Amino acid sequence: MDIVIPTKENIAQAAALLSEGHLIGMPTETVYGLAADASNDMAVARIYEVKNRPSFNPLILHVSSIEQARIYAHLDERAETLAAHFWPGPLTMVLPLKANAGISKLLTAGLETIAIRCPAHPVALDLIEALHRPLAAPSANPSTRISPTKAEHVFHGFQGLMEPQMILDGGTCVVGLESTVLDLTTDQPVILRPGCFAQQDFAPFFDVETANDAAAIKAPGMLTKHYSPRHILRMNAKEVGEGEVLLAFGSQPLDGAKTVYNLSPEGDLTEAAANLFAMLHEIDQITCRGIAVMPIPETGVGIAINDRLTRAAAQ
Ligand code: TXA
Ligand code: MG
Repeated sequence: MDIVIPTKENIAQAAALLSEGHLIGMPTETVYGLAADASNDMAVARIYEVKNRPSFNPLILHVSSIEQARIYAHLDERAETLAAHFWPGPLTMVLPLKANAGISKLLTAGLETIAIRCPAHPVALDLIEALHRPLAAPSANPSTRISPTKAEHVFHGFQGLMEPQMILDGGTCVVGLESTVLDLTTDQPVILRPGCFAQQDFAPFFDVETANDAAAIKAPGMLTKHYSPRHILRMNAKEVGEGEVLLAFGSQPLDGAKTVYNLSPEGDLTEAAANLFAMLHEIDQITCRGIAVMPIPETGVGIAINDRLTRAAAQ
């Protein structure tokens, strides 16, 4: 497994490996993906195997254009509107699957719906175009571990394994949190997984609801225990305990911590989202008695940050 610079030649080689059924570590604007040819059952099966992922959990199809999405799913007027506005970008839409479109049933976990997104990263788009087919790509971390936002995170996660065969280094992911998953298969659109886009971003187009527990079961990736750092993590800390690392937010970090990571000294939620997983990865490397996290405002992308932290806090 090598980390390589995404030159044209290396992207062509990555596409060749994908067409042979191998996996590639692929940068996107959200987090790194563990990519496979979505039409190849064996390759998609390898994703589940390498990640150690429960097989009922469906994957996202990554396309390079709206036209390509239309080959695999039925886009109604709402989906067309959102695709035109938000793609390429960190929005995944759950849509009715087109039968016999050639997507591995393992990707959809046998459902009649499919989650699709067009990533806003030139390397991801070039790779899909070089393969001439869309990619299955869950986050490139072993199941239940922290998602990767740098090529090295992918490398460390799968060290010693045969796959992925190559990791394309596209730098640090600018968004840093997985895409917003929006279910458009029902009359009432529902956010199944919060991300960089929140309810208010969809308001100019139509009302969307946020998932309750029932919807969470519909997106099995939303299992409570999903992102686990090695250390115990507690949220909304008002003081720092003996031996705890402080994960701070804003210009006034709590006193008393020997080690402080500040998600955003300026109190900027977008910056905090981009830093979250990288800081959790760093804290994973150090010895401490736990992680105390300062309160994060529950607005905009702060909702997604708190969602990921809640899962990280679940033991
Ligand atoms: O930002 C992202 O979305 C990253 C990057 C690599 O693109 N990918 C990612 O994929 O997070 P994954 O496989 O870790 O997350 C897929 C999410 C899960 O929450 C899953 O349950 C949901 O999408 N999902 C997939 N297909 C679905 C379907 N047909 N219905 C409902 N939820 C679905
Ligand atoms: Mg994931």
